[in-house]
Amino acid sequence: MDSEPKSEDPAFLAHLYCLFREYFKLAERKRRWSIDDDIPWQECNPRLKGVVADVIETFFAVELYLPDYLSKLIPQVRANRGRAWFLANWGYEESKHSMALGDWLLKSGQRSDEQMADLETRVFEHEYDLPSESPLGMLCYAMIQELATWLHYCQLRRIVKEVGGDPALERILALISVDERAHYDFFRKVVSLYVDRDREATIAHLRGIIYKFQMPAVDLLADGQKRGAEIRALKIFDEEIFFLQVVEPALTALGLCKSDLKPRRARSGVNLGSA
Ligand SMILES: [Fe+2]
Ligand SMILES: [Fe+2]
Repeated sequence: MDSEPKSEDPAFLAHLYCLFREYFKLAERKRRWSIDDDIPWQECNPRLKGVVADVIETFFAVELYLPDYLSKLIPQVRANRGRAWFLANWGYEESKHSMALGDWLLKSGQRSDEQMADLETRVFEHEYDLPSESPLGMLCYAMIQELATWLHYCQLRRIVKEVGGDPALERILALISVDERAHYDFFRKVVSLYVDRDREATIAHLRGIIYKFQMPAVDLLADGQKRGAEIRALKIFDEEIFFLQVVEPALTALGLCKSDLKPRRARSGVNLGSA
């Protein structure tokens, strides 16, 4: 696995660390929430459609791969304090997402303790591998994936309201989606710095990530295809939604457009294997 070169420009690293401190300050002031105190657990709706619980279970399972995400991402950026310490904070927030979703599955009566234990066992039968060995590639992937994840949670919250509502679940999805948006915003700011520093290499990584994009880990689940089909059938996420509501806004925010992703002969020397 690649890691960022130790010769990384100190001023650039300092700038990244400032971005993390700004992110952390806002998170501490405005975004901290408590699973025990901020969710109206007594208002779970046990009659909510089963397909919604199936999708929540899928999101819960994806968040359960946190040990694989962290153990593989942090070594890529261990000498980059801004990115490494961000990941420590990101891991805390993602662990809370998984716990809140798991608690809802149990408290709503949609799943039993035995079913949850069985799911956890099955999840850890497989190990998640990063879609890119490069720190810059993973940065691009994380930016796109966090915006896609934010969209998943927003769409699911709308669907929960449409099918009868569940105040506890709606609150969880609202809190998580705010976190996911903050994750995207941080990664977007960092990618923007890399676009300014090395536009060709960053665009090459974005191209590689976007055209083979998959949400993390769903394919590792034994019934991953069925779970993916449920998400598409509910119009939570599909290829069209990905390009219109994830790729285009992310590129626009970076000052790029789709034509920038087209490979050009002049760009053929770009090395996708390193940052
Ligand atoms: Fe999350
Ligand atoms: Fe996230």
